[in-house]
Parts: sequence; C-alpha cells; structure tokens
Amino acid sequence: MHQDVERVLYSAEEIAQRCKELGAQITEDYKKRGETPLLVALLKGSVPFLADIMREIDLKLEFDCMDVSSYHGGTESVGDLKINKDLDCSLEGVSVLLVEDIVDTGRTLSKVKSLLKNKGAKEVKVVTLLDKPARRVVEIKPDYVGFTIENEFVIGYGLDYKQWYRNLPYVGILKASVYE
Ligand code: XMP
Ligand code: MG
Repeated sequence: MHQDVERVLYSAEEIAQRCKELGAQITEDYKKRGETPLLVALLKGSVPFLADIMREIDLKLEFDCMDVSSYHGGTESVGDLKINKDLDCSLEGVSVLLVEDIVDTGRTLSKVKSLLKNKGAKEVKVVTLLDKPARRVVEIKPDYVGFTIENEFVIGYGLDYKQWYRNLPYVGILKASVYE
C-alpha cells in the first residue's frame, strides 16, 4: 500500500499534534460559551479524524454518525442530498459540531448544514482536518481547520481512492501510475 504513495503531506505525528491543538481550542471555546457540542461525523472519511479529535476534547459530549451522498446537479438545494444513514438522536436545540475529513467545493457541507438546521439544531459549527479553499464553489468557511492544502487529490487517514488507502496513518498524494 505505501509503495503507491508519491509523497507524505502530513505524517501521523503531525496529525496527532494538530488534533491536540484543535481539541484544546474547541474545549476552550465551548467551555467559554457554556455549550457542549454533539459531534456529527460524516461517514466514512471522517472516522479516523473523529476517533482522534474526540479524545482531545475535554467535554462530556456525545457523537453520532451520518452517511450522505450529494448529487452535484448544479443546484445547491438540500433536496440533492441523499441520506444513506440518518442520525440516531434528535437535534432539537442541539449545538452540532460537524466533523469532516475535507472541505472541497463546499457543496456537501453547505447542504448538510442546512439539513441539520432544518432538523432543529441550535447551531452547526464545522471542524475539518483538511481545507481545499482553491476548489470552493459554495461560499462556506469551516470554523476549525487542521491543515489548508493546495488543489491536490489526497488519500489516507480516512480519505480514499476507490475506497482504498483509508487506513494509511498519514495524508499523502497518490502516485499518478495508480490511476493512469
Ligand atoms: P465537497 O466538494 O462537497 O466534497 O466539499 C467533499 C467531499 O469530497 C471528497 N473529496 C476528496 N476525497 N481526496 C479524497 O479522498 C480528496 O482530495 C478529496 N477532495 C474531496 C470527500 O469525500 C469529501 O468529504
Ligand atoms: Mg467526506
């Protein structure tokens, strides 16, 4: 598996360090505001990040997962969002902290945010491991960002190519020979 990687962008150690920093910042911000977030992770890419970031947040919180697919038919409406697995809990009056692997065009995030607000969430904030602002189509800014990256296709630490490489412990760039 590792031989398919052209270059490591963020090592396991760098990711762990950034999770510590983000977790501390989130803990402080929510304590200050007297809020406790419900972490909502989007399957499957966010799983490693969820597992790591939640253990760096010192708040008595819960998490839930949902799986959505987005149809990019040109419109940005919530109707284009297919829910493959819905949340188990009610969102009425809840402060949601969405946990994402990567924000690319921003389409998925903006639709999920609207959906969660429609379900009664009091607020929806976003923590993402990676942000690729150069690709943004919908104007949306994550509240907490691990690393801002260039317009490159990345794999590892949850991110996949054809469902593979999610179990790489680091984030890297795939060799072109793998997909050419
Ligand atoms: P949008 O465009 O809606 O989509 O912000 C975000 C989702 O697109 C996927 N994505 C990637 N997956 N490497 C990946 O493995 C990438 O470089 C990449 N860029 C976008 C991902 O599923 C993300 O949640
Ligand atoms: Mg994703």
